[in-house]
Amino acid sequence: MSDTIQPFTPGGAPAARAAVEQLKAYSAPLEGRRHMLRLDFNENTIGPSPLVAQALRNFSTEEIAVYPEYDGLREALLQNLVETGCRPGLKPAQVGLFNGVDAAIHAVLQAYGDAGETLLTTAPTFGYYSPCAGMQGMTIKAISYEGETFDFPLAAIQEALAARTPRLLLICNPNNPTGTRLPADQVIALAASAPGTLVVVDELYEAFTGDSVLPSADFTATPNLLVFRSLAKTAGLAGLRIGFAIGHADVVDRVSRVTGPYDVNSVAVAAAFAALADQSYVDAYVAEVLRARDWTVEALLQADVRHHCDGGNYLLIWPRRSVEEIDAALRSEGILIRSMAGKPLIDGCFRVSIGTTSQMQRFMEAYLSIDP
Ligand SMILES: Cc1ncc(COP(=O)(O)O)c(C=O)c1O
Repeated sequence: MSDTIQPFTPGGAPAARAAVEQLKAYSAPLEGRRHMLRLDFNENTIGPSPLVAQALRNFSTEEIAVYPEYDGLREALLQNLVETGCRPGLKPAQVGLFNGVDAAIHAVLQAYGDAGETLLTTAPTFGYYSPCAGMQGMTIKAISYEGETFDFPLAAIQEALAARTPRLLLICNPNNPTGTRLPADQVIALAASAPGTLVVVDELYEAFTGDSVLPSADFTATPNLLVFRSLAKTAGLAGLRIGFAIGHADVVDRVSRVTGPYDVNSVAVAAAFAALADQSYVDAYVAEVLRARDWTVEALLQADVRHHCDGGNYLLIWPRRSVEEIDAALRSEGILIRSMAGKPLIDGCFRVSIGTTSQMQRFMEAYLSIDP
């Protein structure tokens, strides 16, 4: 690979590592989103608990001046996990703190992915896994979801795990963007079947399905299982960047070795304490999104619009007009959606995040007037 890389970029600057020169950066259309109805990034559409706003108002200048302290945050997460159905007994050393799950993905790939090794995953899935594997020079084997309902390709994954023992298996559960769900016992069975593979399950949207492995995982029996959780989406802290990796203490230790000592900032820590202390706020938001999702599916059925809805706070819609036209027309109405153009299996559709029922009523009214 390095033979083909020039020592300089076309602009005359020093070239990066060969793997980086070949990388296509993961970019997301993030500009100009303020004051819009943002149904494009699966964020919380109403904002975090009032306790978070209060914690931020109370944030002192002293706290700004000193490096962050993480005392008690791992314990607060563990307590919150027990409150939400996970079995007690996990230790703080089994929790890694990251600058969002994005940073956790990056760190896992840095810690575990060597050039030439394989990342096994699914397609289409969350877009940041591939560039993180690519920057390590890894080979990516992405197995397609199956059929019109985008079923999890369990047999093909089992076969790929047995055949070549990939270094890593990354499963997004439920999958973004297809919503595909894999029961927790099947995730654990995959990990148990392949002790030489680190099996990472990205549970960013599990609050909408309840399919988490955490209530039943035994990290002593399956030390190769690692779970991602984030406060970005359900708790509404996407802008502050805080996420967690939970697993065997040795794995958490290895993944944490490749991060800086103060990567998670103090504001995010203060907000995380407040968000974790107000689970009832998150529960109420999730319940409203699930109601809004049912309402939206019913409206799509009534209007005879092709769509696909499974787990998660999002669904896919195949418009009659082109996605580009729909995207532009909705944007002019102040509503953002995410085109899935170029994604395997789902090219030609768009993903719409689910907000509250009134937000989805606004979306449906605008959408049906644009694409009747
Ligand atoms: C499946 C999945 N994993 C991880 C992330 C990133 O999460 P965070 O905001 O915690 O970095 C996203 C964000 O869209 C996602 O959809």
